[in-house]
Amino acid sequence: TCCRAIRTYATAPGLSTVGVVGMGAMGHGIAQMTAAAGYKVVAVDIDANMLSKGIKAVEDSLSKVAAKAVKDGKADKATAEKNAADVRSRITTSGDIGALSSCDLVIESIIEDLNIKKKFFADLGKVAGANAILASNTSSFPITQLGEASGRTSNFLGLHFFNPVQMMKLVEVIKTKDTKEDVYKLGFAFSKSIGKEPVACGDTPGFIVNRLLVPFLAQGLLMLDRGVASVQDIDVAMMYGAGMPMGPLTLADYVGLDVCMHILEGWTSQYPNEPAFVIPQPLKAKVAAGKLGRKTGEGFWKWEGDKPVAPA
Ligand code: 3HC
Repeated sequence: TCCRAIRTYATAPGLSTVGVVGMGAMGHGIAQMTAAAGYKVVAVDIDANMLSKGIKAVEDSLSKVAAKAVKDGKADKATAEKNAADVRSRITTSGDIGALSSCDLVIESIIEDLNIKKKFFADLGKVAGANAILASNTSSFPITQLGEASGRTSNFLGLHFFNPVQMMKLVEVIKTKDTKEDVYKLGFAFSKSIGKEPVACGDTPGFIVNRLLVPFLAQGLLMLDRGVASVQDIDVAMMYGAGMPMGPLTLADYVGLDVCMHILEGWTSQYPNEPAFVIPQPLKAKVAAGKLGRKTGEGFWKWEGDKPVAPA
């Protein structure tokens, strides 16, 4: 599947330059897949360190993709390396959102904090081109509220990707009551053009996947907290008993415990009567200790790069 990252698809009509804002776990993957499909990408992060880490993650992923293409006999070494270099060359970087003024589509993938996102969209609304389409990759916040913050409600939609973006085929496409039909359709066309499978979902907490997945991760942590099974046994059980590629604690670490926490904090404060929305004590403890999972090398598991090696 990851060879998609070096394949060029037909770009969607009317879109040539795409801005991606926030070069974290999601944003760097969105930037990479968008550039791999032939679009020009403006990658923006106001944090210079995050920007350079994000670009390094793109380069590392492109190297993996190139090596795999050679290994699988899909390309010779020179072609695979040239493809990777071509994708990289389509990405320009900036620390300033003013660089987004030339973009036909801007995809926001910054921290999962409603007020920060609203402020970002208010600022973006002032610099984006008059016909630009604005999208959020939010996991859990109302697209309607973010669109209102931008002042561009009819050109606004949700495009929600999954981690790792290079490997996960799904994009949830979310419209609000104000999203213009052609903008919504372009969301599907763009997703397909970068090799993804789009699905439609209403503007509802967590859309389809996170509404089902995040409560499941929380239940895994509550089970750990009750002391009825170990980290390893919970994960092994769900992999071998339910056919999941990763058990819930590995997946929570993989997504980022801070991200899980941000999602659950947002939901518990907005929907205090929804019993599925709870913040398990072990999650609070790990986040308070700065143990955020894969990205910090330790969460419920100890990580070496992309691999969980032992329960923490
Ligand atoms: N770029 C390029 N290649 C990559 C890559 C990347 N970022 N990540 C993995 N690969 C490659 C590996 O190098 C490997 O290549 P190889 O076959 O040549 O060795 C190949 O892909 C397979 O990877 P792995 O051997 O590491 O392992 P898996 O086969 O287990 O696949 C996985 C990894 C796709 C991450 C799989 O474990 C999986 O599907 N996990 C569940 C992920 C999931 O549920 N994500 C959703 C999270 S929720 C979310 O994102 C929503 C958000 O809003 C919170």
